Amino acid sequence: MSDRVLLFEMAPRDGLQNEARAISTADKIKLVDLLSATGLRKIETASFVSPKWVPQMADGAEVMAGIQRRPGVTYTALTPNMRGLERALAAKVDEIAVFGAASETFSQKNINCSISESLERFEPVVARALSEGLPVRGYISCVTDCPYEGRIAPKAVGDVARVLKRMGVYEVSVGDTIGKGTPDRVTAMLDAVLEHVPARDIGAHFHDTNGRALDNIRASLALGVRTFDASAGGLGGCPYAPGAAGNVAMEAVVDMLDADGFETGIDRASLGEAAKFAQSLRSGA
Ligand code: HMG
Ligand code: MG
Repeated sequence: MSDRVLLFEMAPRDGLQNEARAISTADKIKLVDLLSATGLRKIETASFVSPKWVPQMADGAEVMAGIQRRPGVTYTALTPNMRGLERALAAKVDEIAVFGAASETFSQKNINCSISESLERFEPVVARALSEGLPVRGYISCVTDCPYEGRIAPKAVGDVARVLKRMGVYEVSVGDTIGKGTPDRVTAMLDAVLEHVPARDIGAHFHDTNGRALDNIRASLALGVRTFDASAGGLGGCPYAPGAAGNVAMEAVVDMLDADGFETGIDRASLGEAAKFAQSLRSGA
């Protein structure tokens, strides 16, 4: 099994979408450029969602236009619907992501539709993106716990993963949105997803509310998962998931993987600088 791990940087999107204070477009651009100098190859840079729902992400087009695009780095964005995809295409992103959930209530609160409606909505978005040559990632939120429904059955996650994979997403990212998962329940959830998606096409996205994210990454590694989402400085949270703390910090993930003998290709010193800047953008910093 490969010892190489791909790290997907979340700070400019998941990191900043939940910040109470307004962050300037120039600071967002600076953050992305600092991150792209660290060796990270994938950066979630923008979110083309409704500005009425998430005003923090309204300037995605300006961020995309202002960054220095580094060869070898993939700049990605969230697209909840066709309107989002059109904005992403105009902004020339390299890859998009649709985002659903394994919890009905969270789906309603986050994207204002049921799980099955969301999957119907994603289908033409994925097809059009693929026809434009853009790879598509598919997120599933609340894979172990939901802020409204409590524990989520692994089969509910497997069911959504199956449909997303059939739609043509190249990877399914399973999100512990509120950071309540434990290694045993993450393992059970991944076992259900692995029935439909091979480990090489799974990404894992852990928030660190309860301090278990690194343990959950280790549990995922044991099942062959080699792609992890994390956020420089540990920023992150979803405005529609009350109580969710930040994404697991990229620095902590890199340190753990280095210690465990995995290769990440990240320059730790430059990552430290990017993380410091990310943290300075935090409300109250
Ligand atoms: P809706 O209100 O049902 O949709 O929202 P609508 O079509 O009625 O649109 C409402 C208004 O927004 C309209 O404007 C639309 O034009 C506009 P009005 O006519 O009232 O002036 N609009 C848009 N504008 C720009 N770009 C668009 C767009 N779409 C509609 N793409 C909708 C449905 C999905 C749009 C909304 O619920 C939404 O944007 N939700 C996004 C919520 C969000 O971003 N959550 C955080 C990301 S998910 C996450 O963080 C989890 C993750 O990290 C993994 C994990 O941790 O689990 C990925
Ligand atoms: Mg998240």
